[in-house]
Amino acid sequence: MVGTAAENAESARSGRPPLPAEIADLTDPGNRENPYPSLEKLRRRSPYAPFDGLLVVGRHDQCSALLRDQTMSAARDRAPLSPTPRGPRTRNFLHLDPPDHTRYRRLVTGAFTRRKVDGMAPWIRGIATDLFRAAAEAGSLEVINDLAYPLPLRVICELLGVPYEDRRLLQDWSSELAAVLDPPLGSTGRMTREAARARAGFVHYFRRLIEERRSTPRQDLISHLLQIEEDGHQLDEDDVLATCVLLLNAGHETTVNLIGNAVLALLRHPGQLDRLRADPTLAPAVVEEVLRYDAPVQMTTRVAREHGAIGDARFRPGDTVLFLLGAANRDPDVYPDPDRFDIDRSPAAAHLAFSAGAHFCLGAGLARLEIAIALELFSTFLVRPRLRPGGVTYKRNLNLRGPSHLLVDFDGVRTG
Ligand code: HEM
Repeated sequence: MVGTAAENAESARSGRPPLPAEIADLTDPGNRENPYPSLEKLRRRSPYAPFDGLLVVGRHDQCSALLRDQTMSAARDRAPLSPTPRGPRTRNFLHLDPPDHTRYRRLVTGAFTRRKVDGMAPWIRGIATDLFRAAAEAGSLEVINDLAYPLPLRVICELLGVPYEDRRLLQDWSSELAAVLDPPLGSTGRMTREAARARAGFVHYFRRLIEERRSTPRQDLISHLLQIEEDGHQLDEDDVLATCVLLLNAGHETTVNLIGNAVLALLRHPGQLDRLRADPTLAPAVVEEVLRYDAPVQMTTRVAREHGAIGDARFRPGDTVLFLLGAANRDPDVYPDPDRFDIDRSPAAAHLAFSAGAHFCLGAGLARLEIAIALELFSTFLVRPRLRPGGVTYKRNLNLRGPSHLLVDFDGVRTG
């Protein structure tokens, strides 16, 4: 079969050739819950050029090498997280190349140092404990809305200095933007009206907040960005805005998915959940294995700036390279029996869930800490937690993929 009926109709209208079967399989929303068989097929074919101008890589060694290759540009033409996609001055640094990338990224690395992140642990634990208590009182836990959304959103709001009371707006805009981070495969890569509305919402919202912080600075990242001077010049408002929108989004929807994926993996492997309960120091190992086993960011892209080759495939300037991070993380050459969830692994190479090279996730340390705390509490707080039959549904997103609902039943909370 080549493409779904809807995609074939869409390609007939647009004059584009139908999607090859492997790609159609991957993009099929019916495979969202378990994309790994399609990813495995694509990894076996990697490097694979389904059509002119696109190269798909899914092997760990190939992804790892090309993500670190400085001739690969992150300046993709579609940059849904930027407030104004046209005009390089206002693009967030996820879409910039060195030296601009280095300069902008450096402005915020200070907020994510090991010391800063470690210092946030007691506060994050307090927030997570409150969320579990509230769920316990309610008698049920819907992991995504009761825990996975509020925890990272509160953390990133606090860091930036964004009022948490506005969470509904921010959460809705974030998930609308996340939905268009899918790569341009078939009909899935279009910028929707909701995403344009969400972006306009963010821009308007942050412009107001930036104005407020300019007149009354506080101890937060927005105020800090406004005060930074480089060569005697302050950052302009568009740069501050793009950085704020990037941090709020990058630090939010991704972590939501990781919490959802992690809780699900543990509920499906109760023996490993029991071990975590007995020994909370296993939390970091659990986090690494979930990142490998069910990557919250499934893919990323780069654009080739020069002629080059990987394996037996050649690419030309302007070609898009699609990295299947979720496939690379299950490469049997690096992870024996890769479809097995196993917190005792000591893999030969690091997983690629946070990417690699210059754009390696800036918030990796913070994300690891948030999840480790959430999982530790999940394992110790609830008595006999179990997945409600039929209690899991998935978002439509192909890239920022994760459960949209995850219902957990339990028999009360542990008090001692
Ligand atoms: C489980 C949670 C997370 C995952 C899986 C994740 C994943 C990623 C990935 C794959 C990239 C690189 C994309 C590319 O190479 O094209 C990235 C970049 C980034 N992430 Fe994360 N992220 C997570 C959490 C966070 C958090 C909590 C923050 C901040 C509060 C954050 C901030 C960023 C930023 C600023 C970048 C851009 C870095 C750059 O371009 O230099 N992320 N993240």
